[in-house]
Amino acid sequence: MNRPMTLRIAQISDTHLTRKPSMFQYNWEIVVEAIRSWAPDLVVCTGDIAMDGPNTPDDLVYAREQFNRLGAEVWTVPGNHDIGDVHVGHDRVADHFINQYAEIFGPDFWVRERKGWIMIGLNAQLAGSGLAGEGAQLEMLREALSVARGRPVAVFNHKALHLGEPEADDPPGWTIPLAQRSALRNLLLEGNVRLYASGHFHRYREMDDSGMRLLWAPSPAFITNHPKFERRGGLVKSGFARLELGPDGSVTAAFADDNAMVQFDIQNALNDGGARRKHWNQRLAFQVTRVDA
Ligand SMILES: [Fe+2]
Ligand SMILES: [Fe+2]
Repeated sequence: MNRPMTLRIAQISDTHLTRKPSMFQYNWEIVVEAIRSWAPDLVVCTGDIAMDGPNTPDDLVYAREQFNRLGAEVWTVPGNHDIGDVHVGHDRVADHFINQYAEIFGPDFWVRERKGWIMIGLNAQLAGSGLAGEGAQLEMLREALSVARGRPVAVFNHKALHLGEPEADDPPGWTIPLAQRSALRNLLLEGNVRLYASGHFHRYREMDDSGMRLLWAPSPAFITNHPKFERRGGLVKSGFARLELGPDGSVTAAFADDNAMVQFDIQNALNDGGARRKHWNQRLAFQVTRVDA
């Protein structure tokens, strides 16, 4: 039922789009169709928008073009595949990558308002980077939470806050680094943050952290059903998330795929000690041969 006061959001994540021939286009077409027919108030993409933004900026341009097909306003935050990361194994996050992203998608962190909700987009890649944006983002967050004055707040960020244990030192690169996490988490819990929505894991998972809903949106592009990632839990399936945010601060979330998506599992690329993993993103993009080529 479409209640007029309820804010309906399609949360997409980890679309890994590229203009090059890509297997990931298949499920993307299903996302476009599903979102157009659901007609949400808003679409939010929690990063890894592009296949390889730092090295192929056209991936970001192409993703923007694709997002224009969704028939709704799309808000975004960047992921490691868009602007790099503090963790080794990716291009180091840098201001010129952030600027490249911002020229296409706008500011990398933001505060907006919809139907009584304060919506905050964060750039997860800044945490631990030492870049000027890291302090500026925290300042923005503090200010936004202090003026929220009882209104419910939703935060969107590429990386999860944690894997289920707020104090645990999770494997590097996957969650907000422990050194930055407790300050961020305390701020969120002191504010009226009802939802912390992230991506990055290519899994759907919901958790409660002291009254704050933690939600991992799945990826329509691919899954990683590898035993070494079992600890992450959740549903390992391609899709997106449907969110309904009530005027009372209630959060309803659901996994969505309409059972139409194909499951592209990249665990083979992770099975050989990393040799194939190098540049896996470029390689995967070319695994589908176009019949019209
Ligand atoms: Fe991703
Ligand atoms: Fe990611």
